[in-house]
Amino acid sequence: MGVSMSRGWRDDCPGQTLPLLALLMLLKYGPAGATRPPVTAALIAANALVYFRPGALDAHLPRLRRVMFNPHLIIKFGDLRRFFLSSFYHLSEAHFFMNMTSLLWTGVELETSMGSSEFASMVVSLLGLSQGFTLLLSKGLLLLSNDVPYYEYSAGFSGVVLGMKVVLNAQAGDVVRFGVAIPAKYVAWLELLLVHVFNPEACFIANVGGILAGLTYLWLKQGPEPLALMFSGVADIVSQPMRFARRLVGSTDHRRGRSVRPHVAPVPRETGHGMWRCTTCSNDNSRCVDVCGMCSSPHPDHAFSRRQHLRDGGNSGLSDEEIRRRRLQRFDR
Ligand SMILES: *[C@@H]1O[C@H](CO)[C@@H](O)[C@H](O)[C@H]1NC(C)=O
Repeated sequence: MGVSMSRGWRDDCPGQTLPLLALLMLLKYGPAGATRPPVTAALIAANALVYFRPGALDAHLPRLRRVMFNPHLIIKFGDLRRFFLSSFYHLSEAHFFMNMTSLLWTGVELETSMGSSEFASMVVSLLGLSQGFTLLLSKGLLLLSNDVPYYEYSAGFSGVVLGMKVVLNAQAGDVVRFGVAIPAKYVAWLELLLVHVFNPEACFIANVGGILAGLTYLWLKQGPEPLALMFSGVADIVSQPMRFARRLVGSTDHRRGRSVRPHVAPVPRETGHGMWRCTTCSNDNSRCVDVCGMCSSPHPDHAFSRRQHLRDGGNSGLSDEEIRRRRLQRFDR
């Protein structure tokens, strides 16, 4: 996100900056031996298509007014379209051009150094994080009774680009700006200040959100211990049902292992007409019964429900004879 809607930007001659942007891209991507990172190019192309809406796209892309970032509307109506799509919309050609040249420079360097797939996942993270921080910041300011950012409309890719700059600068040492050596991690903040001195139109909160997104991304990547633990904890919880299911299957196999059947038991064949064939003695049984009528082996798929049934009955020591008797009883009913 970059620019807020307070003064309303309009273009008289759309497309004027395209030749210049194309030239800049040619300089980056053209030379023999250039790395030509594809994700950055795709992002710029996507932003250009959204901004210029050529041909049939015009009818299919949502209008700017419907997707502009607005904390109030996002929180009140849970409007995720505004949350995610607003980054790909720009309010004027100047806005589009400036953000795309920033993206070109920062993106090419970062994607080359970290690889395309990691770069792509970083862009997705930065997008969510920067929008999320912008939302939180404006809500926080609202609680401190500054309601301007909360009701403000904004759009643009600059939050994500600023986040990228933070990540990029973290790889560098000191950076020289205006003849002064500045520790790389402060460069993004300095740029933010400069942008707002020279262009008060820029949405300050959104840009702060972008910088915080970059810092958070770095923090998550470097993985402080408690956080890494938290992630593994979450992964653990998620994998619990899986492990439970596996244990069930495993214990069923184990149980059957005590009989003469092979360790890897064949799946009982459903023989049609509601019958299943016992894997031990090949007797055909009705699907209504859980145990083979000939040899009393349980239907493997139903072994769990049978165990459950036995446990619920509080009588896990039923003999095969008893089970057979009960089954016959059930048939007599
Ligand atoms: C995006 O464009 C706006 C308006 O032109 C500008 O204020 C902002 O700094 C730009 N963002 C970046 C990251 O270049």
